[in-house]
Amino acid sequence: MASVNEHIETNKDRFLNELLDLLRIPSVSADPKYKADVARCAEVVKTRMEQAGLEKVEVCPTKGHPIVYGEKIIDPAKPTVLVYGHYDVQPADPLELWDSPPFEPVVKDGVIYARGSADDKGQFYMHVKAVEAMVRTGNLPCNVKMMIEGEEEVGSENLGTFVKENKKRLAADVVLISDTSMIANDVPSINTGLRGLSYLEVEVVGPNRDLHSGVYGGAVANPINVLCDLISSLHDKDRRIAIPGFYDAVRELSDAERKELAKAPFNEQEWMDELGVKAVQGEKGYTSSERCTIRPTLDVNGIWGGYIGEGAKTVLPSKAHAKISMRLVPDQKSEAITTLFSDHFKKIAPPYVTVLVKPHHGGEAAVTPTDSIAYRAASQAMEDTFGKKPIPTRGGGSIPIVALFEKELGLKTILFGFGLDSDNIHSPNEHYGVFNYMAGINSIPKFYKHFTEMSATR
Ligand code: BES
Ligand code: MN
Ligand code: MN
Repeated sequence: MASVNEHIETNKDRFLNELLDLLRIPSVSADPKYKADVARCAEVVKTRMEQAGLEKVEVCPTKGHPIVYGEKIIDPAKPTVLVYGHYDVQPADPLELWDSPPFEPVVKDGVIYARGSADDKGQFYMHVKAVEAMVRTGNLPCNVKMMIEGEEEVGSENLGTFVKENKKRLAADVVLISDTSMIANDVPSINTGLRGLSYLEVEVVGPNRDLHSGVYGGAVANPINVLCDLISSLHDKDRRIAIPGFYDAVRELSDAERKELAKAPFNEQEWMDELGVKAVQGEKGYTSSERCTIRPTLDVNGIWGGYIGEGAKTVLPSKAHAKISMRLVPDQKSEAITTLFSDHFKKIAPPYVTVLVKPHHGGEAAVTPTDSIAYRAASQAMEDTFGKKPIPTRGGGSIPIVALFEKELGLKTILFGFGLDSDNIHSPNEHYGVFNYMAGINSIPKFYKHFTEMSATR
């Protein structure tokens, strides 16, 4: 029988083509227009999991998009790895900024271009193929449970319910997720933290209808002007968030912890050049990498109102809107921060407008220890593949379900991500390296092997 490595090497073209087929399905969870595509994607994921050798594979309906679950239990006495991923993707617009259509994947110079290639289809599918390689060659050393959801990009609300209702079914020893990035292809790293999130929408209402900006402008407050004032008041001159109590729960890192994290290589000038920015901005007293990982933020994600069509229209709009996200760190609580924001925003609203705050979704931050068996197994697996010990780093993005796995199932997560920050996830021209895809498929079976062996000799 072939070894795991031989199986992967022999089948790598098929592994790539299967991923490309998956990327052709526009499984955009945010837009109801794609509901049928999301459902079709779940069915395809189910079939692929079955073909990989998983058993009891099921498309589990939810109030929203379905969850695909399957497992392979070889021996209840052995450890169990719970794999989580998401088959839903972000909306692809603005379409005109893509060099090739987002749902017609192309492979150019060893890079796969398509929406979802890195986030997260390309990454979760590495697990499906790694399981195939282990099962087909008789090398699956422990039990595996796999849960791939369709609502990560919209807040995983129904998955939360599913986890609470299926605690027995999901019982495991560790959660394994590939949905984050590494420092560089020659600088492997493992994410040991994620930020939490509080996402909301605000509406500022002025006059009862749109007005002529010449007839009324100057005397009737313009809701867009007011919204801009309100938003700019949310940061102070040190770029700290000016909401009373916002930092109260923040767990400050010790100097030693900050020093440790600062060891990860980071070339700020190259980073700025790559982003096309001439200077950086952020909270006083912290470096750029700290500002994007261990510090909380407040950002406007979208702002609209008034006339945005061709040419000019002189109008004093009745309403203005913004979508706002706050990235949170341990031990801030998403709901508490949403309430703080909402109370503050209403309090600072001047009498000439009314403001409405509509909470969307959120999630808690999470940190993983680096002294666990699972972390050591993941580190060794990456070292086997890359020839270098991975560096522990903190990530700035959010995967809300990670904190929930800990709370509901008592499980820590290994963030075994193989993407790069430059993959353009959520942006036009999202891409994922074939190198990264294969590095993941090669590393995952090594994790299973090390984790099983290290668990046995504990
Ligand atoms: N995979 C990302 C999260 C991520 C990316 C973490 C890179 C670390 C590094 C995930 O799909 C995502 O985009 N999450 C959302 C949160 C969700 C509630 C919409 C996010 O971070 O905005
Ligand atoms: Mn993701
Ligand atoms: Mn995402």
